Amino acid sequence: MAEVNLKNVTKSFGKNEVIHGISCDIADGEFIVILGPSGCGKSTLLRMVAGLEKITGGEVAIDGRVVNTMEPSERDVAMVFQNYALYPHMSVFNNMAYGLKIRRMPKSEIEKRVMNAAEILELTAFLERKPRQLSGGQRQRVAMGRCIVREPKVFLFDEPLSNLDAKLRVQMRLEIRKLHEDLKITSIYVTHDQVEAMTLGDRLIVMDEGRAAQIGSPLEVYSRPATRFVAGFIGSPAMNFIEARISPDGRGVNLPGGINLALAGPAPEGIVDREVVLGIRPEHFEVMAAGEALLTLAVDHVEILGADTLVYGRLGGGKVALTLRLPDVHHFDAATSLPLSVDPARLHLFDPQNGQRIAV
Ligand SMILES: Nc1ncnc2c1ncn2[C@@H]1O[C@H](COP(=O)(O)OP(=O)(O)OP(=O)(O)O)[C@@H](O)[C@H]1O
Ligand SMILES: [Mg+2]
Repeated sequence: MAEVNLKNVTKSFGKNEVIHGISCDIADGEFIVILGPSGCGKSTLLRMVAGLEKITGGEVAIDGRVVNTMEPSERDVAMVFQNYALYPHMSVFNNMAYGLKIRRMPKSEIEKRVMNAAEILELTAFLERKPRQLSGGQRQRVAMGRCIVREPKVFLFDEPLSNLDAKLRVQMRLEIRKLHEDLKITSIYVTHDQVEAMTLGDRLIVMDEGRAAQIGSPLEVYSRPATRFVAGFIGSPAMNFIEARISPDGRGVNLPGGINLALAGPAPEGIVDREVVLGIRPEHFEVMAAGEALLTLAVDHVEILGADTLVYGRLGGGKVALTLRLPDVHHFDAATSLPLSVDPARLHLFDPQNGQRIAV
């Protein structure tokens, strides 16, 4: 058990800086997810904690000790990779025991730890099998077992589920969360899958090109995204962004086509009568009776998913494209005029230049 502290951590490959100074205090027993698109630096950050990548600047501390110059083996961390890298010629038991054997742990202790991990992971019946005789999910569990037996201070996961099919991913996701609740080992988990991140993490570090765009609980990140990037990355379908303008009285926001929406509170002084980017999530529109609508959507196309329906259309005489997600099944013909409303508390405003959230 340990805390992990990242203090202004940077990484350069040659002259190319890819991590630009990330700080985060990860509590003992916390499950933190590093989320971001391909190439934003997730694996690099994780590998710096593991000791597989040199730290260019700043400090990484595990359990209160700065580990910058420590070898991976001295850091007491265990890492699960995407390709689980099991030894194909060894049994499940030996795959899990191997790391302990080379540390010359007594045989009885090895046996105890492996049997215990196998029990937790429901692998007891497979201990004599070779990896090729296991399903993908079972192999991934062996890879986790190999980490558990080491009783590390920190678990590091780099996209451990991305080789599995969709159904198995959901199942393994639940198992990883359950395992964490049982073992309470500090965990850092890298993924580009927002659903995995939202369901697994106590907190997320949302990364945008080598920076932490936001660090917060899944719900904070969803309901108060710190930047336009975060707002667009979390949520499916993605948030709608509309170029708009704060009204001269600061109480509303004007959209193309003469639409005005009231804000939940007065806009800050500095942005009155200025351009902003308005964000509205597809799931936050309500269909209204014609007389009560704030907006009218000209429907272009409908996708019925069963549990909900995606509606694509345009506002304001065709100027603004919009996506809606409505619960249940709806059959709207193209060219239907759909009267809509949205709760002012669900409106998000962003600075059009730097993308930062504007609080109202
Ligand atoms: N050994 C290396 N030498 C040079 N550049 C590297 C090296 N490793 C990574 N990079 C660069 O650093 C950046 C971050 O890479 P990283 O692997 O951390 O991204 P990632 O967020 O894990 O992406 P993915 O989701 O595709 O795995 C990328 O631009 C990558 O090209
Ligand atoms: Mg990666």
